[in-house]
Amino acid sequence: MQHQSELVESPNPMMVPNDRIDELRTILRRTDIAYYTDAMPIMDDRDYDRLYDELVQLEAENPHSITPDSPTQRVSGQPMKEFQNIAHDEPMLSLQNTYNRDEVQDFDRRVAEGLEQKAHEYWCDLKYDGVAMSLRYENGTLARALTRGDGTTGDDITQNVRTISTVPLRVQPVLLNGVPLLDFEVRGEVYMRNADFLRLNEEREALGEKLYANPRNLTAGTLKLQDAREVTKRPLQLACYFLRLLRLDSATAPQQALLSQADNMRLLKEMGFPMAQHSRLCADLNEVFAFIDEWETRRETLPFQTDGAVVKVNSIAQQTELGAVGRFPRWAFAYKYEAKKARTRLNAISLQIGRTGVATPVAELAPVALAGSTISRATLHNADFIRDLDVREGDTVIIEKGGDVIPKVSGVVAEERDAASQPYTFPSECGCAFRQPLKRIEGEAAYYCEFAGCPSQIRGRLTHFCSRTVMDIEGLGDKAIDQLAEAGLLTTIADIYRLHEKRAQLLALERWGEKKADNCLAAIEESKKQPFTKVLFGLGVRFVGEETAKILAEHFGTMEKLHEASADELSSVFGIGERTAGAIANWFQSEQNQRLTQELAALGLAMRYEGQALAGIVTPIYGKTFVITGTLPTMKRDEAKELIQRYGGKVAGAVSKKTDFVLAGAEAGSKLEKAQELGVQVISEEDLKAMMAQ
Ligand code: IVH
Repeated sequence: MQHQSELVESPNPMMVPNDRIDELRTILRRTDIAYYTDAMPIMDDRDYDRLYDELVQLEAENPHSITPDSPTQRVSGQPMKEFQNIAHDEPMLSLQNTYNRDEVQDFDRRVAEGLEQKAHEYWCDLKYDGVAMSLRYENGTLARALTRGDGTTGDDITQNVRTISTVPLRVQPVLLNGVPLLDFEVRGEVYMRNADFLRLNEEREALGEKLYANPRNLTAGTLKLQDAREVTKRPLQLACYFLRLLRLDSATAPQQALLSQADNMRLLKEMGFPMAQHSRLCADLNEVFAFIDEWETRRETLPFQTDGAVVKVNSIAQQTELGAVGRFPRWAFAYKYEAKKARTRLNAISLQIGRTGVATPVAELAPVALAGSTISRATLHNADFIRDLDVREGDTVIIEKGGDVIPKVSGVVAEERDAASQPYTFPSECGCAFRQPLKRIEGEAAYYCEFAGCPSQIRGRLTHFCSRTVMDIEGLGDKAIDQLAEAGLLTTIADIYRLHEKRAQLLALERWGEKKADNCLAAIEESKKQPFTKVLFGLGVRFVGEETAKILAEHFGTMEKLHEASADELSSVFGIGERTAGAIANWFQSEQNQRLTQELAALGLAMRYEGQALAGIVTPIYGKTFVITGTLPTMKRDEAKELIQRYGGKVAGAVSKKTDFVLAGAEAGSKLEKAQELGVQVISEEDLKAMMAQ
């Protein structure tokens, strides 16, 4: 790792804060590009954090110096209510696409005719399966990010795009014809890596939330989130593939300064943009086909989804000469790869009981090779999915791996169905030795097993607790947990922390030597240092993911306080919905769960939030109920609501005798009248701020 030690040094005492601020921003930007875009870190994390903290501190002391392109300002502004629809100043065209090689030849013929048989080269890209984006830079700074929309107008999602770590908020300056390139539009695809998609979906599954079908849907869903802070939790990537100049200098017509697609990509790369990978300049159609063929199979090894190759005429002058017909440029074309399919026999449909008790039907398949892996199982989601597809045990089914990463059963070969076959009926029992009934919750597609002693649930809970993102206990992965549970050494989470008493039994198990046992016990001991938030997340309460656990820990401060909270109290916390509040209250009602938290406390796990719990601070508004009405002078209503809740107050929708304060702004209507009628104290925004200041 090449160190930038001279830059990491403490500030020169003569340096005025503004110079240091500029210097820090430059270093951090360069380090970000090296880390995120080039995957070549040039600084270690600790140094980076130190510089970042120094910048935060300097900016806090000099608030006038904060600029939107500062690395500290990726998340900014208030959650959006809706996105503004804005016209593209140059339409975002589609591509003609085909699955047919002859049509690629036709495309080449049309290009040659359009160029009156002049020689031409092609630039080949992978076709990223994501969401197209237009980024506008003015004066070197990211000014606006628009979705493609209908090609003519798109949504302004600048706030969300700013949070993508590889998107430069300010570019590294490069010269074009001796003039700095500062005003331009970049287009590219926002996408999510397969591994990140699978991990996020696993987390959602663990929380009992609906799964995303594929990385593209998850990307699109993420970009449309209204709160940019949420976007930061989902790792999005950008791959750029297009540059257009808005302005260069008064003498040069912008588009004429650009020579070729290959040059444009080089310029973008130099400015610090993350580029589409594996692109290639091809001299003729044969080389284009070689590119297409090579990536048809190699794409299976890529960490992201591609659904084809994009072939572009390399020369920008030739692109302009060819122009566009309707929605399609005549200089570019997409060749799409077929979704990989295979046929196999569905031997049986089994049930998998998750840690929250959901019973997921799984297709047990005769093993079949598909797009680089052997598939022997695939999820059938739920009873509705099976019914809609009318898939039956013994059927020959089609397995597909398209842009979805996860193989799926996409169809049934009806002609090969056995005449005696019967439609599948969802079992009424779970199938394990305890033969527990399965129940369908009204309004949900899933069937549940409610048996607390269910072995699958127990294992699911243990696995979740020990996993890397939770308590991070190395040595207790799925297989070890299965083995220890089977041997009767693990039933509850608390048993993990009693394993050291059973060292002899552990050593008696197959594949458990002294070293392995000691490492595992040491990892268990070490996990006791995990903060309260992780312990809370690890309990596996439905809908309580890491973020929710953080909110709860921050608000209530201790496990005891959380236990005592009613569903009403829980749902009045900002960020906790009614469904989650209900699930938490319900979880703490169970005697078994109460015993578990007591045992974990006695075993030395963190039961207290290490920071200052907000609910613990006695503020003048703690526990008081507010109703907000009218237009406040400086705050939006949501902001006032968040502020009140953060200080321990509650916000209700209607005025009643239980209301303590009505916070009224301009043009307050009936709620103000009601307050006066009931004698409820009416306060202004200024009064509220004065109360907070106390
Ligand atoms: S070039 C006028 N290059 O495919 C040409 N597009 O079907 C503009 N896409 O809307 C597009 N990877 O979202 C281009 N390397 C790539 C691409 C790519 C993915 C998407 C893009 C476009 C769609 C057209």
